[in-house]
Amino acid sequence: MLGIYIFFPLWKSFISRSFIIRIAFYDMKTNSTAKGFEGSKKMSLKEFGTLSEYIYNNFGIRLPPVKKVMLEGRLQKRLKANNFQTFKDYIEFLFGKDGKSEIIYMIDAVSTNKTDFFRESMHFDYLMEVVLPKHIEDNRYGNLKIWSSAASSGEEPYTIAMCMEEFNKAHNAKVGYSILGTDISVSILKKAVEAIYTIDRIVNIPLNLKREYFLKSKNKANNTVRIVPKLRSNVVYKRLNLMDTSYNEIDNDYDIIFCRNVLIYFDAQTQEKVVNKLCEKLKKGGYFFLGHSESLIGKNVPLTQVKPTIFIKQ
Ligand SMILES: C[S@@+](CC[C@H](N)C(=O)[O-])C[C@H]1O[C@@H](n2cnc3c(N)ncnc32)[C@H](O)[C@@H]1O
Repeated sequence: MLGIYIFFPLWKSFISRSFIIRIAFYDMKTNSTAKGFEGSKKMSLKEFGTLSEYIYNNFGIRLPPVKKVMLEGRLQKRLKANNFQTFKDYIEFLFGKDGKSEIIYMIDAVSTNKTDFFRESMHFDYLMEVVLPKHIEDNRYGNLKIWSSAASSGEEPYTIAMCMEEFNKAHNAKVGYSILGTDISVSILKKAVEAIYTIDRIVNIPLNLKREYFLKSKNKANNTVRIVPKLRSNVVYKRLNLMDTSYNEIDNDYDIIFCRNVLIYFDAQTQEKVVNKLCEKLKKGGYFFLGHSESLIGKNVPLTQVKPTIFIKQ
């Protein structure tokens, strides 16, 4: 699919034809080509048990029995895509010799990717009002390395990038930065890389930021915006399962790690293990941000709280 994106203020006013045009090519993979699939399929309790145990053991995501209807519903499209009439056949395929690649689609269907630009905005205020001024005060001019470890569709990493740019502008500073976004879901990371969002996703963002950091689709029927290349070029994405035994492919020198609204899916023991593995990748004195409904109380981790849900590595 081809999209043409123009700077926001020009879209707003429609006054100039000399606007800068950005062209984005992107394709969406569809998997709904199966023939002969009829209606929705029922999942037995035993099948739910098999799947939820596998998902918990390998991805840390807890699916209590009340989630059976949700799992059954979300996996319908996977049965359809693979042309299976029963969950029994789907599960046999999933765990059989040819099912490896299907596991990625299965976990995509299961994970909850809710996110927003400037979600839990207190963290971004703290970044701009405390972390970045301190970085300058300490005469540390090096690039800041930031990791968004459950990046979802990219709103969190791009919000961080906007804050970096806004800070530099406001303080006439040149703090360089690079952002790594990781997530378990391949399809959500594809959205993050494309960086295309429906316009309703940015209604609450101040107009000056929209003008600076979003391009409006030239096709009015399209109703989408795209993050400007300047921000996109500072963010890279990789697939990473936080349940992996170690994060070998991740650098050891991050200044800031965001781990927000993902630990809630894990049990207490897994949360502690994940935070410890993340801390191995964080510099001493580096910052760690947790989601507002998450807590590290009672956990043995090398972090000191400086504000609710904000920590420094000891
Ligand atoms: C609710 S979203 C949070 C997004 C963002 N951090 C925020 O706070 O807005 C949780 C994300 O965690 C990802 N996730 C779930 N389990 C994961 C795992 N085991 N490893 C890596 N990411 C995982 C999901 O795919 C989803 O995109």
